[in-house]
Amino acid sequence: MAEAVKSVRGMNDLFGSDAAKWRYFEGRCIDLFERHGYQEIRTPILESTQLFSRSIGEATDIVEKEMYTFRDRKDRSLTMRPEGTASCVRAYIEHSVSRREPVTRWYYSGPMFRYERMQTGRYRQFYQIGVECFGLAEPSIEAEQIAMLTQLYGGLGVEGLEVLINSVGAADDRPRYRAALIAFLEPHRQSLCGDCQRRLDQNPLRVLDCKVPTCKAIVADAPSVVDHLSDSSRAHLDGACEGLTALDIDYRLDPRLVRGLDYYTGTVFEIVSTSKDLGTQSTIVAGGRYDELVESLGGPPTPAVGFALGVERGVMTTPGEPDSFRRPPDLFIAPLGDDARRRALVVANDLRAAGFSVEVEHRSVGAKAQLRRADKLGALHVAVIGDNELASGRVTVRDMQTRTESEHPLGSLRAAL
Ligand code: HAM
Repeated sequence: MAEAVKSVRGMNDLFGSDAAKWRYFEGRCIDLFERHGYQEIRTPILESTQLFSRSIGEATDIVEKEMYTFRDRKDRSLTMRPEGTASCVRAYIEHSVSRREPVTRWYYSGPMFRYERMQTGRYRQFYQIGVECFGLAEPSIEAEQIAMLTQLYGGLGVEGLEVLINSVGAADDRPRYRAALIAFLEPHRQSLCGDCQRRLDQNPLRVLDCKVPTCKAIVADAPSVVDHLSDSSRAHLDGACEGLTALDIDYRLDPRLVRGLDYYTGTVFEIVSTSKDLGTQSTIVAGGRYDELVESLGGPPTPAVGFALGVERGVMTTPGEPDSFRRPPDLFIAPLGDDARRRALVVANDLRAAGFSVEVEHRSVGAKAQLRRADKLGALHVAVIGDNELASGRVTVRDMQTRTESEHPLGSLRAAL
């Protein structure tokens, strides 16, 4: 036998009941987001590499180590998107959307790519569903987005979640905090990992989310960004928290919460899960405000806030066996013989046109094997069509739930379903 080709490490196939559960999860997200006024945007998976280096930041793990970047035939550097926000901002600027509407709400859904160390809940191709809202500087939008998420996960029956919120400071708070952080970290320079020694000069805030244990231990005592917020940044964070309180949402102010992407200004938030299924990858949603990004990528000054949820992690924490998300056939038709199968196809075709899901057995197998298959599929009704049924034009439909039977004309089985 020829050697089989395997999938790429960290990139998964999804099919059967698992795909059914995903579709359900995605459907719930989209329905909810649309009820909040978000409209879909689909952007390309490939973008110019500089889109990500200029937005996510040169000194971040994502840009430094995790991007799938290659040169195309014209020697242009392209990158498979590691996240969705940068593409939304590019599209927002490219299509001059701000000239058409003062407030824009977009949602997106699709695969993202990061060359990360694999573990449960962390993949190299993973899916995000995210939203971005452009044009609102008011902190009430943060509260509304977080409320949307708690409604989503509450409705899905996900338990053990915690909302974390913080502010990383507006652009003009940064120099003060940066100086305080450098003053704190400089004496520890030699104990920091090689990456962090460089980050200390390039972008000291990045040292805060280093995963190396010695660096983690050092930053545990670092000054907190919330102690360096201006009055207006403080008021904004308070405003977001007041919104959450008004919406009766439990949250925890976490002064250590920083994000792994450079574009954030002001509010940042995460939803973390205590589910054991996720291993160490407990963050199921992450987002925040990025009021400087549109302008820094060449657009007009535009406040913006959004989040992205990890679909794998969201589905894993959603209760319910994948099988329970499959749509079982309303009717399984078991034909005995070629004439019966031809007739079964016509009956099934009409019923499908009327909105029912119907499966016909195409193989020439005995009635027993067909009924076993109907059972396996969880068919709600079963009808056997043999010579007698063809002759009389009537068929017995068995309701698999109530275990009762009823007889109907072959041409009108709707009543039975
Ligand atoms: P992020 O924190 O990089 O933020 O990713 C958001 C979420 O995507 C994470 O909380 C996690 O659930 C999921 N995720 C990230 N990496 C992986 C992975 N390798 N495998 C599985 N799931 C993963 C962003 O991407 C920002 N664009 C969020 C945002 C939108 N901020 C503002 N608007």
